[in-house]
Amino acid sequence: MRESCRMFSSPVGVAVGALLLTDLRHIEPVHGDAAAGAKKAAVCFACHGATGVSVAPTFPRLAGQRADYLYRRLVSFKRADPKDPYYSASPMTPNVAHLSDTDMRDLATYFSSQTPPATAAAGAAPGKGEALYLAGDPARGIPPCQGCHGAEAGGPSISTGQYAAYPSLRGQYAPYLIARLTSFHKNLPHDTTNDFIMGGVAQTLDDESIQAIAAWLSSLTPRRVLCGCMQFRRNMRRTTPLSCEVEFFNREDRQCKS
Ligand code: HEC
Ligand code: HEC
Repeated sequence: MRESCRMFSSPVGVAVGALLLTDLRHIEPVHGDAAAGAKKAAVCFACHGATGVSVAPTFPRLAGQRADYLYRRLVSFKRADPKDPYYSASPMTPNVAHLSDTDMRDLATYFSSQTPPATAAAGAAPGKGEALYLAGDPARGIPPCQGCHGAEAGGPSISTGQYAAYPSLRGQYAPYLIARLTSFHKNLPHDTTNDFIMGGVAQTLDDESIQAIAAWLSSLTPRRVLCGCMQFRRNMRRTTPLSCEVEFFNREDRQCKS
């Protein structure tokens, strides 16, 4: 495990014409300090909740989300053009202005390590949303979402390289998912290689499909409590710096043994 603990290098910015494109294809794992992140997160709790479960369903839940994805999103907000139609309207943009790169890694690691509690909507009946998520609709050019977000919508089974920044979707609030998918449908935002992927995916999604998929995803119970979470708690008690232990938390396949 130790060998895989590399420091995360700065994101690679590639100028393409007038666009500053952030290339996420060679992303390295983010290793922040969750205990340090916890100390910096008070300002975030106002909207994202002390447990990483946001106070309003238009704000995304952060608890248990992949750390690399959270970090990437913070970097995107920080680097955004203030006049960009998506970023200028987002309440997040002013919230990242004073964060350093270390702060963003620590905050991403902290929120990722939180145990996501169950959603109120858990247990809704499967239907069109589930079918679209699993199989897409080839006739309409909609790809299966599970190809990139995992069969259980907890992120892809490969969690290294560029796939580390592919988000988990299960248990996310429906109003937030609807807003994001509607934005992607309008090609917003459009400044990272991953935005281009989702922008392309969402082109053929109509409102009804978006609603159905969002309703189904939000009804799934959030990710399981994992052995990494137990490690995390032990670490918090010892107040030693966190390293690879958090990575265990992000692997969905590892069940708690203790
Ligand atoms: C005023 C309310 C507010 C505060 C304070 C706030 N956020 Fe947010 N956050 C939002 C909203 C709303 C979104 C959705 C933004 C969007 O889609 O453009 C969001 C999105 C995010 C995302 C992207 C999540 C995803 O699933 O893509 C991350 C990461 C995040 N916030 C982290 C933080 C951190 C860390 C802090 C504290 C430094 C913070 N936020 C403070 C409202 C807030
Ligand atoms: C080819 C890979 C790929 C496919 C297929 C795909 N996605 Fe994505 N998706 C991504 C990537 C990469 C991101 C991260 C974008 C970013 O960094 O902002 C993402 C982000 C998202 C988000 C934003 C999550 C958040 O927390 O803000 C939602 C919602 C989403 N995808 C839903 C879907 C749905 C629904 C489908 C199927 C119709 C789908 N995706 C198919 C790669 C994919």
